[in-house]
Amino acid sequence: MSTVLPTLHIVVLMGGWSSEREVSLTSGDGIAKALESRGHRVTRIDMGRDVALKLAEAEPDVVFNALHGTPGEDGTVQGMMDLMGLTYTHSGLATSVIAIDKELTKLALVPHGIPMPGGRIVRCEELYERDPLPRPYVLKPVNEGSSVGVAIVTREGNFGNPIGRGVPGPWQEFDQLLAEPYIRGRELTTAVIGNRALLVTELKPKSGFYDFASKYTEGLTEHICPAEIPDAITAACLDIALRSHRLLGCRGTSRSDFRWDDTQGVEGLFLLEVNTQPGMTPLSLVPEQARHIGMSYADLVEAIVAEALADAKLKEGAS
Ligand SMILES: Nc1ncnc2c1ncn2[C@@H]1O[C@H](COP(=O)(O)OP(=O)(O)O)[C@@H](O)[C@H]1O
Ligand SMILES: [Mg+2]
Repeated sequence: MSTVLPTLHIVVLMGGWSSEREVSLTSGDGIAKALESRGHRVTRIDMGRDVALKLAEAEPDVVFNALHGTPGEDGTVQGMMDLMGLTYTHSGLATSVIAIDKELTKLALVPHGIPMPGGRIVRCEELYERDPLPRPYVLKPVNEGSSVGVAIVTREGNFGNPIGRGVPGPWQEFDQLLAEPYIRGRELTTAVIGNRALLVTELKPKSGFYDFASKYTEGLTEHICPAEIPDAITAACLDIALRSHRLLGCRGTSRSDFRWDDTQGVEGLFLLEVNTQPGMTPLSLVPEQARHIGMSYADLVEAIVAEALADAKLKEGAS
C-alpha cells in the first residue's frame, strides 16, 4: 500500500505549548524520520509564537501537522495556514473547530444518528452545590485530549458529596466542564485513513482507567487488535467512525474513541469523540491499526501527505 510521491520539501510542525506538547514532539520525530527514510527533505519546526515567520522562511511544498491540542488541533493553526496559502495535512479549519470541542461534536453528529452519551456543560460553581447528573458520571474539559482533566465521579463519596471545592480535580483548572453519564464497560477505538475505517482496537488499561499515563507508558495498557468483540459491534464501530469522519469533513486520518457497555449489545455502544490529530508515536493506535492491514508507518505518513496534496489540487481546480 505504499504511495508513490515525488520528492518533496516537508515541514513537520510539532511541539507547541499544549498539555500534549511532549506527545507531539514524539509523534513529530517519528514522522520526520519516516519522511526522510523516503527521501524527502524535512524541516522540523517546534512551534512557538513566531511559527508563521518560520513557515514563511521554510517555503515547504507541504506542512505535516503533528500538533495535538490547542492551537494545533483546534483550527487556529489551520486558519493561519489557510491564510498563508500553505498545503497541510489532516483536517481543515471548520472541521478542527468542531471536532476539538466535545459538545460541538455532539451537536454536529447526534442529529445524524451517531450515538453519543447525553450530557451537558456545567459551570464548576454548580458542582459545589449539587451533582449535575446522577452518579456515576464523568466530568471532562470540552477541548483537551489525552484524558487530561477527566474525572470519573463514581461513588457517593468520590471527590466529596457534593464535590468539594478544595478537592483536587479539573474543576480547579476550568470554569466549566462537560458532564456525561458514565458508560460502564469497554474501551474501543477505530482509525480512519483516506476514507477507509480500518479495525477496532480494544484498550485494556491495567489501572482500570485509560488516563494519560496508561496512554503513553509502554506496558500499562494492553492493545487487543483486532478487538475480540461480536462482529455486529465491529461493524457498528467501523460504520460510526467512517460516517463521523465524513460528516465532520475530516481529511487524512481521524480516530474515533468509543465506550461499549457489553451488557447492552449494540445499544450499549457510544462514540466519545473524534480525534482529528490522532497520536503518531510508536505506541499510537493509528499506526498500529495501519500495520495490521499491511501499511508500514512510513506508508501511513506518506498516504497522509498524498491526501493533503490531492485535496489541494482539487481546490486549485475548483477556484
Ligand atoms: N462518558 C464516559 N463514560 C465512561 N468513560 C469515559 C466517558 N468519557 C470519557 N471517558 C474515559 O475518559 C477517557 C478520555 O475521554 P475522551 O472523551 O476520549 O477524551 P480525550 O481522549 O480527548 O481526553 C476515555 O478514553 C474513557 O476512558
Ligand atoms: Mg479520547
